[in-house]
Amino acid sequence: MGWNSWATYALNINETLIRSMADAMVASGMKGAGYEYIIVDAGWKAKGRDAGGRLQADQDKFPSGMKALADYVHSQGLKFGLYTDAGSEDCVSNAPGSKNFEDKDASSFSEWGVDYVKEDWCNTGGMSAQEAYRKMSQAITATGRPMVFSMCEWGDNKPWAWAAPVANLWRTTGDSKDCWDCGRETMNKLGGYPRGWVLILDAQPPLAAYAGPGHWNDPDLLQIGHPGLTIEESRAQFSLWAILAAPLIATNDLRSMPPEIRAILANQEVIAVDQDSAGTEGTRVRISGNGEVWMRPLADGSRAVVLFNRSKSPLTVRLRWTDIGRKQTDELPLRDLWRHADIGVSKDGYFALVPAHGVVMIKIGLPAN
Ligand code: GLA
Repeated sequence: MGWNSWATYALNINETLIRSMADAMVASGMKGAGYEYIIVDAGWKAKGRDAGGRLQADQDKFPSGMKALADYVHSQGLKFGLYTDAGSEDCVSNAPGSKNFEDKDASSFSEWGVDYVKEDWCNTGGMSAQEAYRKMSQAITATGRPMVFSMCEWGDNKPWAWAAPVANLWRTTGDSKDCWDCGRETMNKLGGYPRGWVLILDAQPPLAAYAGPGHWNDPDLLQIGHPGLTIEESRAQFSLWAILAAPLIATNDLRSMPPEIRAILANQEVIAVDQDSAGTEGTRVRISGNGEVWMRPLADGSRAVVLFNRSKSPLTVRLRWTDIGRKQTDELPLRDLWRHADIGVSKDGYFALVPAHGVVMIKIGLPAN
């Protein structure tokens, strides 16, 4: 769980902004809710390496250097993430990528106190993704510093099939955008074409079995707090990302977070589902028109369930106990994870009126009978 600079600030980042975001992570209660990593995405590097071939920070934006920034983030009790690219150059900043400099760059990251490395896939013509990411993974391991390794090749090379020994998380699609389902026209192209989170969600069901503790599918950033999503859509993304056991990486300006946005990002009951110790990724178990049921089995045997309404008007979404591996005659206790209330014991399944583009999220306990 953490915060990433890209979706809100793109290349417009600097050390003052990142420090203030670390402060706000603590002051807003996000740290208390479990968010830990402050991840500086593209835009931090100088355009060239130093005389020793080492990456350096952009002197105008990060005059104190990355070690000082990492120290500051650590002083707030948080962890520090940094971006690079597997190819010859980063995607859009004309800064050097890590191709053929994996050992050198991993050592710099380790010396600076980096805890999380995100490696992108631009300017990699002719390269093998498996080889390139293995190289960086080995370079990171060789430093002896534990650093989470986040692969970002947009699912182009089916990383779920081979990356578990290489990385801790891998992006499954192109970038998320702050809209419901925009970007359909570019979604089948290779590379990081941005798209609404619902289109990203639709790519996840076949991938569920590949995730587990220490190696996760990454359906990209949370767009919550951006103008392109309504509150219902934001609650829906958060709930479904928890079902997907996804990394929860916020991108909004934590310094000026409206209470209703904070209430979504810091919902402890939904976060507990996301962080469940079994690490089983959930999936869709029923489709009925615009109504869907998504389910994630939890470590204690209970089930987290999302009733999801894709339509533009309220819809009753139904769940049968057999959808979640229970007997139809079971009497199961229910808790609403957005209302924070127990809602009694139900037999024969459950249904609820779900708001337009929204969800009802419940936890379903073990049979009482
Ligand atoms: C690609 C990645 C994004 C972000 C940008 C930065 O599009 O997929 O997550 O890192 O590059 O340039």
